[in-house]
Amino acid sequence: MSDPPRRTAAITAVGAYLPEDRLTNADLEAMVDTNDEWIRTRTGIRERRILRDPDKATAFMATEAARQCLERRGLAAEDVDLIIVGTVTPDMHFPASANLVQDALGATKAWGFDLSAACSGFLFALTTAARMVEAGSARNALVIGADTMSRIIDYTDRTTCVLFGDGAGAVLLEPNTEGLGVLDAVHYTDGSGADSLSQPAGGSLRPPTHETIDARLHYAQQDGRTVFKRAVVGMADAAAEIMERNGLTADDVRYLVPHQANLRIIDATARRMGLSEDKVMLNIERYGNTTAATLPLCLWDWESELKRGDNLVLAAFGGGFTWGATHLKWAYDGTGEGGTQNAEGAPE
Ligand code: ACO
Repeated sequence: MSDPPRRTAAITAVGAYLPEDRLTNADLEAMVDTNDEWIRTRTGIRERRILRDPDKATAFMATEAARQCLERRGLAAEDVDLIIVGTVTPDMHFPASANLVQDALGATKAWGFDLSAACSGFLFALTTAARMVEAGSARNALVIGADTMSRIIDYTDRTTCVLFGDGAGAVLLEPNTEGLGVLDAVHYTDGSGADSLSQPAGGSLRPPTHETIDARLHYAQQDGRTVFKRAVVGMADAAAEIMERNGLTADDVRYLVPHQANLRIIDATARRMGLSEDKVMLNIERYGNTTAATLPLCLWDWESELKRGDNLVLAAFGGGFTWGATHLKWAYDGTGEGGTQNAEGAPE
């Protein structure tokens, strides 16, 4: 008797939310000692989206992205089984933003949680949810990457404030028995890098005090040079490892879907994989680094270009340190519904 087909978890729809307000390099020139040329050549960023409404935060953007994703798939919120939100900017330490999303969507039968892995949050959440769907523990899962970085960025610190933007992306995972979906993943953590990129205060080690606020310890802080060096190696190594493990050549890969932190880190990864520019998803120019949202925003932007059976390599590196790569076989022909062409608040 032949083995039953392997059950995998495939992405069957994507959704996104981007705030309408833009923060351009020219705006930043008026705020800190920086300039458009420095930002573009060092990072590749021209503008970012900022969620200005003080009554809205990560769960709001995550809900909007998830809602669009479910609408595109035609799935009712009450039929969702699992919600995982990758984020380091939850609305509150607890309850989890996943709970707020569950309630706002009306996903009355779902359970869920937040996953904290900084810029690798979506990648790690995708693997976690995929295993749940493969095992039959969930019929489907909403995997969301959402961050409101503008709320933890110090807009007097030119070394961080030029890098980040706000946004959310969501995908729906459903079972597949045709060899499509999430096929393999390699993930790594190195906590010895914790001090190189962190939000030092606000947790149980340094709860909020007047002193922590005066010392600006509730803002994200980083040693950019160290992060850069580790990210270049980590993302490229992980992408090369996933290609080798799965016998993929550069010709086999339709797209690299890279975390959008810095154009130079992305270029190094693509070079290591032997990929030409046209095989690299890039939107850093328009959104900056949206932390956990960068990968699903890329999938959303490129959705109409994707064909069933396309090999994608997703790769990320983030604070913590966290990093990894995933081999995904795309499961459907792009619907032509978006992203950037049709989504509300998206660039023209
Ligand atoms: N405008 C103008 N000058 C600046 C700015 C700015 N916004 N920021 C820093 N500088 C100055 C520095 O003060 C320094 O001046 P000095 O030589 O007089 O001391 C000079 O520019 C060079 O600084 P470096 O830090 O060496 O610049 P580098 O080329 O490394 O670029 C950057 C800095 C863009 C932050 C880079 O290190 C980087 O991308 N690191 C990765 C960090 C990152 O992306 N973190 C996000 C989360 S983790 C992730 O997503 C991978």
